[in-house]
Amino acid sequence: MSEQNLFKVTIDNITIEVPAGTTVLQAARLIGGQVAPPAMCYYSKLQGSGGKCRTCLVEVSKGSEKDPRPMPKLVASCRTTVMDGMEVKNITSEKVIDARAGVVEFLLLNHPLDCPICDQAGECHLQDLSFEHGKSETRYEFQRRTFKKHDLGKNIQLHMTRCILCYRCVFTADQLTNKRVHGVLDRGDHAEIATHIEKSLDNEFIGNVIDVCPVGALTDKTFRFKNRVWFLKPMDAHRDCPTCSGRVTLWNRGDEVYRVTARKDQWGEVEDTPDGKPGWICNTCRFDKKETADWIIEGPREISRQSVIAQGHYAGKIGMTKPKETFTAVNDGRTPHLLMDIHDESEVNQPNIHLGKIQGPSHGDTFNTNNTHKA
Ligand code: SF4
Ligand code: FES
Repeated sequence: MSEQNLFKVTIDNITIEVPAGTTVLQAARLIGGQVAPPAMCYYSKLQGSGGKCRTCLVEVSKGSEKDPRPMPKLVASCRTTVMDGMEVKNITSEKVIDARAGVVEFLLLNHPLDCPICDQAGECHLQDLSFEHGKSETRYEFQRRTFKKHDLGKNIQLHMTRCILCYRCVFTADQLTNKRVHGVLDRGDHAEIATHIEKSLDNEFIGNVIDVCPVGALTDKTFRFKNRVWFLKPMDAHRDCPTCSGRVTLWNRGDEVYRVTARKDQWGEVEDTPDGKPGWICNTCRFDKKETADWIIEGPREISRQSVIAQGHYAGKIGMTKPKETFTAVNDGRTPHLLMDIHDESEVNQPNIHLGKIQGPSHGDTFNTNNTHKA
């Protein structure tokens, strides 16, 4: 141990010095990239999180300088603190890769295959995990779990079948609000997120459960089925909010704000504000400020190149970029004889209807002439 109380730890052959008390996962995140194990339940901004999902398992091939014996079993890196001289294997360990595939298989046992209609698609950590470690088929022969539907109120939608029981939303309600009304009810195969009894989640900071949920179990009712995230342009914006930091990401299509979320860092966690506090946002910013004029736009949000969201390029400016005309290209150079505007023929998807302002999914009624959602 050095004078500054720093411990040397080697993860996947990369050595780094970290303060005593740092977890293996945090040390691996300091190295970054693939060396950082995936984490479905740990959330650095939530006290007590971690230790539930086992996706962050690593192999400790050398315990410490003083006691170099390897640890007999794989350990959860989010709950294991580093020792001086410790050597850890993540992607360099076959055992870890194998175990992770097993964990993913278990997480998917009861998970429905509804990515095509799930609002979390494109930013779902379980989707990423199954892409990296999952199998194309299930070995599970039994009927998947189903649950009685619980209504969590006007802003938050619960899909219990998608929940992996990571407890993040429970910690969020415990630590950000003064009265938690939801939690994990029952045990074992019957465990589920619910309120007791049928209460709605309506604290001013409860919307943050949507941001911490690693899967599509808790989603934003004001955004449901309105758009796919990869068609939207994330932009950093802020407003002078009396309740929260007011620093958000707006998810726009053209000038329409479809969704407002907190700003997330590369680990999918809520980013800190400049004064070092977690940038949780309030319900008013998240659910009620759906006009571009409500916000001061700072600029396009940087999105990882690997993310499917990065496919919606900005082409250098904020707002809608008209796509290149592809008709002639797909028509072998011929121009069409006749072009019709779909809105002259059909009453669906009228451009003057502001989908972002509609509560819940839009359907036929939304496009009736007497609607109140005009832009
Ligand atoms: S609803 Fe989401 S955040 Fe809450 S326990 Fe389930 S997966 Fe975790
Ligand atoms: S992230 Fe470590 S056990 Fe879930």
